Amino acid sequence: MTQNKFILPSALAMLCLASIVVLRQGQTTPSLPSQLPKYLAIKLNTNPETISQASTDYGHIVHVNASAVFEPTSVNDIIELIKYSNSIKKPFTIAARGQAHSADGQAMAHNGVVVNMTHLGDFRNGSGIIVSDTYVDVGGKGDLITCSAENNSEAFYAVLGGLGQYGIITRARITLGPTPSRVKWLRLLYTDFSAFSRDQEHLISLDDTNAADYVEGLIMLNKPPLQFSFFPASDKQRITSLVTEYGVVYALELVKYYSPNSETMVEKEVANLVKGLKFVPTFSFEKDVSYVEFLDRVHTDELVLRSKGLWEVPHPWINLFVPKSRILDFNKGVIKGIILKQNISAEVFLIYAMNRNK
Ligand SMILES: *[C@@H]1O[C@H](CO)[C@@H](O)[C@H](O)[C@H]1NC(C)=O
Ligand SMILES: *[C@@H]1O[C@H](CO)[C@@H](O)[C@H](O)[C@H]1NC(C)=O
Ligand SMILES: *[C@@H]1O[C@H](CO)[C@@H](O)[C@H](O)[C@H]1NC(C)=O
Ligand SMILES: *[C@@H]1O[C@H](CO)[C@@H](O)[C@H](O)[C@H]1NC(C)=O
Ligand SMILES: *[C@@H]1O[C@H](CO)[C@@H](O)[C@H](O)[C@H]1NC(C)=O
Repeated sequence: MTQNKFILPSALAMLCLASIVVLRQGQTTPSLPSQLPKYLAIKLNTNPETISQASTDYGHIVHVNASAVFEPTSVNDIIELIKYSNSIKKPFTIAARGQAHSADGQAMAHNGVVVNMTHLGDFRNGSGIIVSDTYVDVGGKGDLITCSAENNSEAFYAVLGGLGQYGIITRARITLGPTPSRVKWLRLLYTDFSAFSRDQEHLISLDDTNAADYVEGLIMLNKPPLQFSFFPASDKQRITSLVTEYGVVYALELVKYYSPNSETMVEKEVANLVKGLKFVPTFSFEKDVSYVEFLDRVHTDELVLRSKGLWEVPHPWINLFVPKSRILDFNKGVIKGIILKQNISAEVFLIYAMNRNK
């Protein structure tokens, strides 16, 4: 196998526009028959409150009621449900619901059956990457298939990328590895988008030993509320002034993991990574946190938003791949030309540089 030595970065822009709310017209879908075989009926919960709980997801954009919520106690229950649906003239919709972290209703089943996957309990066992999944093929006959990157790999990747629409994953094995204990976490602020994206592309082009462990970009708009939780309170004023002056500031986030006995070394590595980067002089901020605090950073934001009643709101989300050759146009046309010009609130707007050859 030849390896592509050329690095072709493209950027993944992720944005969440709070002002977009998509309304769906109720479609006519096949519905659950009123009489079901007893072995299935006893596991169906038709309590209006339970149904209503299963009628929304993280996205809060789609709201549809299932006819029932299925509470399986074994994988076999799920197989029976799917086989039954497929055996009747008009199969009903079946959707698997775990934590319902979908943004567009994928965990709902209009007039059908939502399978409450948490009833199967959680599995915490195994040793890095997903090596094997077992899942029930919804589209087909309800067969239980074991798949991995090597075995039944087509099914494996279809399920991984299938947004819950290809099959129901009933078991997954995830290999665990040692974790670092601490994290150097930096945010570098840019007012010049081309310097920002050049530096992002540079950082992801480094080989593994020198590279950052994590590189992200986010935009800060001159709109309340500015996300300040990362920055020292004493710098709040000058950051606000920068954002106000330019309307938009690009924050490059750079992370390096380390263990307690390698702090001196990680400080040198971070200094090397930052050397030569073209952020606005003096606008570099660093935090030192535990690995768990870093991994759990979104949860911290969630708690703040929950306390303000701003969590249970629509969460439209779009991922776009933009080729490197057009990323400057994207800044000019979308970030400046639309978001800034039309004074739109982009709640969370993330930009990642990516190597096309991984
Ligand atoms: C699914 O089951 C879990 C565990 O029994 C329960 O806590 C949760 O409320 C159920 N969710 C739905 C949508 O029925
Ligand atoms: C779902 O069912 C609940 C309880 O019956 C009801 O209050 C709610 O309006 C229904 N939602 C939709 C989208 O039909
Ligand atoms: C973890 O998996 C191994 C191999 O499948 C099994 O022998 C062991 O009992 C499992 N441990 C737990 C806690 O489930
Ligand atoms: C490979 O997939 C087949 C068919 O699902 C299954 O019977 C077999 O156990 C799998 N083998 C491994 C090593 O996972
Ligand atoms: C932009 O939107 C903010 C609210 O997010 C508002 O306070 C401000 O007046 C708007 N500016 C203009 C020029 O419309």
